[in-house]
Formats: sequence, structure tokens, C-alpha cells
Amino acid sequence: MSGHGTPIPMTSRRCGPLAGTAQVPGDKSISHRSLILGAMCVGTTRITGLLEGDDVLDTARAMRAFGARVTDHGDGAWSVEGVGVGGFAEPDRVIDCGNSGTGVRLIMGAMATAPITATFTGDASLNARPMGRVTDPLALFGARATGRAGGRLPLTIEGARDPLPVQYTVPVPSAQVKSAVLLAALGAPGETIVIEREPTRDHTERMLAGFGAEIEVEDTDEGRIITLQGQPELQPQDIAVPRDPSSAAFPVCAALIVPGSDVLVPGIGLNPTRAGLFTTLREMGADLTYENEREEGGEPVADLRARHSPDMTGIRVPPERAASMIDEYPVLSVVAAFARGTTDMPGVKELRVKESDRIDAMAQGLRACGVAVEDGPDWWRVEGTGAVPGGATVESRLDHRIAMAFMVLGMASETPVTVDDGRPITTSFPIFETLMGDLGAQLERGAPA
Ligand code: S3P
Repeated sequence: MSGHGTPIPMTSRRCGPLAGTAQVPGDKSISHRSLILGAMCVGTTRITGLLEGDDVLDTARAMRAFGARVTDHGDGAWSVEGVGVGGFAEPDRVIDCGNSGTGVRLIMGAMATAPITATFTGDASLNARPMGRVTDPLALFGARATGRAGGRLPLTIEGARDPLPVQYTVPVPSAQVKSAVLLAALGAPGETIVIEREPTRDHTERMLAGFGAEIEVEDTDEGRIITLQGQPELQPQDIAVPRDPSSAAFPVCAALIVPGSDVLVPGIGLNPTRAGLFTTLREMGADLTYENEREEGGEPVADLRARHSPDMTGIRVPPERAASMIDEYPVLSVVAAFARGTTDMPGVKELRVKESDRIDAMAQGLRACGVAVEDGPDWWRVEGTGAVPGGATVESRLDHRIAMAFMVLGMASETPVTVDDGRPITTSFPIFETLMGDLGAQLERGAPA
């Protein structure tokens, strides 16, 4: 999502019951990692169910620029012929990661211990986000970064010629930072140790083990200690990407607030480092069940069934749960507006540095729609009354999750809700409009007539 061109407003109006089956696309986190790890082994990695959203397509293009052969076989099937750990070629152009913090941060890590130089940029949202959190630990390996003030993109990384292994405690709860360090560690000889005080999504660790790296994870009182041996020969894999719980959140939450709804969302990854929203919704009294629980590709998976839940109540979301649902707070705040009572969301400072300042974006938009919201530097609070007036045009701020959250709000509010630009949705959920429309949502391009 470049942010260039003409904005496309999108309007959601109150609809009848949502019903049917929602086949949401592949997991964004796992899709990025499949392409990047595929590029870091010699041989062919085959991927099915890849998310073909703009963020992941930007990562596919980047892997080609670093020398991997990435092929789209149609219908979510892709292959990557990798160049091996340390084998990245120097790109002959600027790497544009579009809107994707995950893409740029993981790729910076993957190239930081190769003897090459690369320059990275993105759209207005990505170029405003902090990158020092990644370039600081990459400097410990011997990589040098030169960027704009505050470590912002565009920035250039000169990879370490003689990389050293590191020991690093991640100072913010961020899977992207942890993963950048682990990917850099692949190119450094010896043992790198990464410590995270609060567990974040662990797809990189699981996938590195799957690709044959020597990696150990230990849960201790100080946090999670990850030990990775550098310079492995990664083995190409066949990867079936599970469907994305962060995308499933939208049809699930819509079904909970639209009267009469009953929606099945099959095959959703329920890795405990990702499933915090569903636990929270159940605590609020949501009629949300897990059916057919199983394991696929090393990840726990289930079919989610969500039914209209008129008696939900507000709760305090435990701050230690934040990392496991960090992308789901925008849509949770929508559900909270339809529940009764206060939903407190403490310990969420990271929401301020996502694709947008998500606390501010949601607080302002919800207030414009008649919902009482309070917020502070690392917390916010929504007062639910069981009904939402709606009737506003809100800014999506180059943020897909803000745009989709307000489209869900409009499905149950008294008057329609419009976002000023729905284009960011294609970064993570390119079929959102048709999928929600097939369930019975009334979404249309443009402002309300
Ligand atoms: C992601 C990690 C999270 C999340 C993002 C995807 C990942 O970001 O918000 O959408 O795939 O590692 P942080 O690591 O910055 O919390």
C-alpha cells in the first residue's frame, strides 16, 4: 500500500444477520517468514496458503532483489529458491517495503550479517516508524546503519563483514525486533542469545527449528531465553500457512455484535502467542467456540464459531496479555463499545507505534461515532452502552486494521460509518470486502448517499 493516488472512501451500514463460512487468508507473520527463510536456504521451499496482501508481496519482491528466485504458481502456491545463509546478493535498487514494519525489520535483520549494503524505504506510515529498535541490536553484530533522524527510514544498512554473535535483551515487547536479531544471528558464527522479558509471537523460533537450525528456547523467571547457533545450513521446507487469527478477528467480532449472526471461521492458527483476543472475548461473555481443534504445520489450529452475543460485558484486559493480541485492540475496542460497562486496556504503549498511533486513531474515531473513550500514554478505556450511534467519517491513517475495525463498527451502529480511505485494507486482507459482503455485510465504496 503506497499511500499514493486517490483515497477510496468506504462505508459500512447496519446489516442483517451475518451468516456462513469465512475463509480468511493466510497468516501475515508466517507468510513473511516463509519467504525470508526460504531465501536463506539452498534449495526450493514450497509454500501453500501464502497471504497475497501488499505487505507480503513487497517482501517477495525484496527477496528477489536479494537474489532469491521467488515464483507465484497461482492460488496461494509459491516457491522460493534460496541463496543460503550469508548468500544474499547486493540489491541494485532501493528496497521498498511499502506499509510493512514486519517486512522491513525482518529483512534488515536477514541482510545485516551478509557483506552487502542495502537501502530501505516505505510509505509515509512506515517511514514514520521507529527503526532504531532494530538497527541498535544489528550494530552489535557489526552492521552499520545510516538513516534519518530518530533512526527513521529511508535508511541504509552496511552488513557486517566479520559478524560477531551477540547476547541481547529485547527492550520492548516486539516479535519483529526479536526476529530481526535471530535472522541476523544466522549469519554470525557461534551462539547468539536473545532474551525477551515478555513472550511475543514465536513463529520465527518455531520455523527456524523446522528449517533445521539449532535453536533452544527456555522459559525462566527473567523471561524467555532463546539460544541460536549461527551459520547453519537451513533445509528447504514445504510450508502450509495457517489462516491468520488477526484477520479472523474481523468476521468473528462482526458476528458477535450484529444481531442474529452465526459465522464459522475455519482453520485459524491459535498459537498461544497470538490468541489473546479470543480469550478476552470469551471472558467478556462472547458466544465464541473452538471446533475441530488440531495441529497443522506445527501450529495449533481450530475452526472458530461466533454467534451474536448481546450480553457481553466490559473487562480489564490483563497487560501481560497485550503482546498476544497487539494487532487486535482496534477491533476489540469496537466490540467493547457494544458490550455493557468499561473495557480497560492497560500496558499497550506499543499501540502508539504501529502503522498508525492506534490508540489515538480509534479513540478519535469512536468518539466521533458517539462512544466515550479515555486514553493515556500506555492505556485506554472504552465505555460500552450496548448501542453505538455511528454516523461519522473517520480517518484510516494508512492503517488497515483501523479501516477494518470501523467497517465492523458500521455493521451494527445506528447510522453508517465511513472511513476516508479503505485502500490500506489490501496490505493484510485483500478479500475483506467480498468476504464480509458474502456473509451479509453492507459495505460500499464512497461516502453514504
Ligand atoms: C509482527 C509483530 C508485531 C505485530 C505485527 C506482526 C510479526 O509487531 O504488530 O503486525 O510478524 O513479527 P511488533 O513486533 O512490533 O510488536
